[in-house]
Amino acid sequence: MKASMDKIVNLCKARGFVFPGSEIYGGFANTWDFGPVGVELKNNIKRAWWKRFVQEDPSTFGLDAAILMNPTVWDASGHTQSFSDPKMDCKNCKQRFRADNLIEEHSKGSVSAEGMTTEQMENYINEHKVKCPRCGNFNWTPIRQFKLMFETSRGTVEGEKDVVYLRPETAQGEYVNFLNVQRTARAKVPFAIAQIGKAFRNEITPGNFLFRTVEFEQMELQTFCKDENSMSIYENMKKKALKFAEDVGLDKDHLRFHDHEKLAFYAKAACDIQYLFPIGWEELNGIHHRSTHDLSRHQEFSGKSQAYLDPVTNEKYVPSVIEYSIGADRLTLALLCEAYDEETLENGETRVVMHFHPAIAPYKVAILPLQKNLSDKAKEVYSVLSKKFMCDYDEAGSIGKRYRRQDEIGTPFCVTIDFDTLEDDTVTIRDRDTMAQERIKISALPDYITKKIEF
Ligand code: GAP
Repeated sequence: MKASMDKIVNLCKARGFVFPGSEIYGGFANTWDFGPVGVELKNNIKRAWWKRFVQEDPSTFGLDAAILMNPTVWDASGHTQSFSDPKMDCKNCKQRFRADNLIEEHSKGSVSAEGMTTEQMENYINEHKVKCPRCGNFNWTPIRQFKLMFETSRGTVEGEKDVVYLRPETAQGEYVNFLNVQRTARAKVPFAIAQIGKAFRNEITPGNFLFRTVEFEQMELQTFCKDENSMSIYENMKKKALKFAEDVGLDKDHLRFHDHEKLAFYAKAACDIQYLFPIGWEELNGIHHRSTHDLSRHQEFSGKSQAYLDPVTNEKYVPSVIEYSIGADRLTLALLCEAYDEETLENGETRVVMHFHPAIAPYKVAILPLQKNLSDKAKEVYSVLSKKFMCDYDEAGSIGKRYRRQDEIGTPFCVTIDFDTLEDDTVTIRDRDTMAQERIKISALPDYITKKIEF
């Protein structure tokens, strides 16, 4: 791994991938804004996910559910009762930490706090005299549970307001629409509902850039199935999720499965795919066998049957759910870390290059006139190519510097317009990774690029 988190953060800010949220006001902890290059990258990642899991699978259907849901949804899901983090404050420097993170960091990952009770965590911290990572003192408040759901209110009559929540996951939108989708898509179990959307969590974290933020996007997919087929669907989903992570650009040596040690009482199996981030092995996505828990709870709280009627056997049952959930921002961070490379060139200079899969690269092609007086022809080429691909146009500075800039934002192809172009309608196309250049006809460019950027 060539990238430290600092290098990634600095490149992201310098090149317009990601800026600190509300920066001119001193920032706003754990919020980030995607700039012109970053929004393209994240959109392409979401598109690749949607293509793989929705477009290419006839038994998966898309959804875009509301962020604000009837508050009873969160009672049924258990979030209002138990979606919280164990937090402690350092009485000396007033910094707040997650107790489970303190234990895992202190033990350098050899002790997992997953499944520990509050008392067990407090005992560990006291016995091992775990110090505040910020000021080095050992002076903690007791552990308190902090609710992770953001609350807001909705009122139709002045003064009368009801609490509503910003959804902390997109999954509940998929559960409550199970029968709507099943009926309208004429879907037969097993089938899946997929959705990409914002989720919000009142996280208190030590930073780590996009890894854990208070507002993020999830890409979630729930497969509704009969219990007897559920374990094989769970195993297939693990394979499919891993393959997607590799295909979109993550090195297989930087990916591994991590089975959960302690399962929720209703769960039959659960694992994460972890990625080797610059901060160590951390969860990239989760795959959970949730049994019939979610639909049964919504059936109980809504009073509406969530049973599926098998049209062949006439059997009526509440399906089990296999969930696959991945953060679009967390995957973006992993891909930024994976793509980062520093190469030493023959002339001794260092080239920073982002080796994104061409399908997710922010711009597919940059159009660069060798000199400013070639800009008319270059703009003609831009107007042809920009109808098909996201293109960048740059006529400022030396061609070498312009190549370097495109390398740093991961543009797979640079097209240079020179004086020969005016004579024979050919251009030079340069490959980001090999830096090899070839001469091709302008009319051949769309097909050439289309083939190379396929996902
Ligand atoms: N519906 C299941 C669910 O939400 P989760 O493990 O809490 O499960 C799923 O979240 C994925 O969402 C994680 O694997 C991670 O990729 C992403 N994620 C969760 N919390 C996040 C946060 N605060 N910031 C960025 N991504 C987050």
